[in-house]
Amino acid sequence: MIKAVRGTRDLLPPETETWNFVESAVRDLFRLYNFSEIRTPVIEDLQLFQRSVGEETDIVSKEMFAWEDRARAASEKGQFLALRPENTAGVVRAYIEHKLWERPGLQRFYYIGPQFRRERPQKGRYRQFYQIGAEVIGPPAAGSESPAVDAEVLEMLAALLDNLGIKGWTLELNSVGSAEDRRRFNEALQAALKDVVHTMCADCQRRAQTNPLRVLDCKVPEDQPIIEKLPRIGEYLDESSRTHFDEVQKILLAVGVPFVLNPRLVRGLDYYTRTAFEFTHGALGAQNAILGGGRYDGLSESLGGPPAPGIGFAIGEDRLVMTLHESAGVAARPVDVYIAPLGPGMNVEAARLARELRRQNVVVSLGDESFRLKKSLETASKMGARYALIAGENEVKSGQFALKNLNTGEQVTLPAAQIASKLRP
Ligand code: HAM
Repeated sequence: MIKAVRGTRDLLPPETETWNFVESAVRDLFRLYNFSEIRTPVIEDLQLFQRSVGEETDIVSKEMFAWEDRARAASEKGQFLALRPENTAGVVRAYIEHKLWERPGLQRFYYIGPQFRRERPQKGRYRQFYQIGAEVIGPPAAGSESPAVDAEVLEMLAALLDNLGIKGWTLELNSVGSAEDRRRFNEALQAALKDVVHTMCADCQRRAQTNPLRVLDCKVPEDQPIIEKLPRIGEYLDESSRTHFDEVQKILLAVGVPFVLNPRLVRGLDYYTRTAFEFTHGALGAQNAILGGGRYDGLSESLGGPPAPGIGFAIGEDRLVMTLHESAGVAARPVDVYIAPLGPGMNVEAARLARELRRQNVVVSLGDESFRLKKSLETASKMGARYALIAGENEVKSGQFALKNLNTGEQVTLPAAQIASKLRP
């Protein structure tokens, strides 16, 4: 038997109802903040992620689905490709490729789609998972660096989780400083690591040289006491980073979005600057981050674009749905009527009736003329249909149809034109 690939899964009804419920709540709420949808390809040039997420991150160095795509014709070039592990890089690539800075003001995009990371699967961690994300990006003159944008994005997230009825979330907030702050912090980390790094894991030893910040992502238990004692980024923020961070907090307090400061939060991707955050939830267990995000003020330039500061986030949709299941289930709209065609030729009549009823916003499920009435009524009850409509030769001839309420057993006879109004809930 061929099964779904390790770390991937099928989403089946009725669970897909919850996914659709979440996605429509997202679309409605994000519209109130003037976000519009962007859809970028699932396949990108491998370099896009090496230059944005960073070569020394776990995501790029260990978890990418990447391959060499050989040229198939003389006119084509071979290329290293990857399944996207995240969507921010793709959005910024599209921003540059389509010169979206020529559009007026700040660009506010959101996306909903699959991402791929070859991680060890466990509860809340998959190799194909889904993100709901958003990015605000634009030229500095459009106000893209303003701390008000950070606060607005965070307030939107708090509103989303509250609207969905998710209780008990925590917003963890930090500032990882400007590129210059980070340079000084990396130097300080390197100095602090000098005498101890030889006792650490091989990854840490390499990262201490190439990208010391990534030492802070190490999960090896023996290395944790050393990491605990390393300097914290907060001590290396300059005046403007500090003021920016203070302003974000001031607005959050004013609009009543609660948060806690987490000076250890640096996020596992290289492109972040200044505001960095995660929303966590106790019900999720070890993989407790529902979402993560932050600012990426130099990302556009590192991909060859113009200055375009930005901020965004991505929600793990799989995890969001998990926390929702802890609270409430979502039910699909039930079948209003099951049409039971009785006897040869009646599929045609049933199709006519169904077309007319669906035009009037009725949920219809169709039987087949080969079924006996008993089988049709049983099928209708099992699928939870509210009514059964019998379409036999006599009904068609007389224009009067028998409509049976499957909850009460009550049956009425009606002309075709009155069926829809009787069926409306
Ligand atoms: P990230 O923290 O790598 O950030 O991922 C965001 C969220 O995706 C996580 O908090 C988690 O809920 C979910 N997630 C990540 N990996 C998995 C997995 N293997 N299985 C299930 N869920 C997972 C980013 O991806 C950034 N692009 C966010 C961002 C947007 N920053 C700025 N703009």
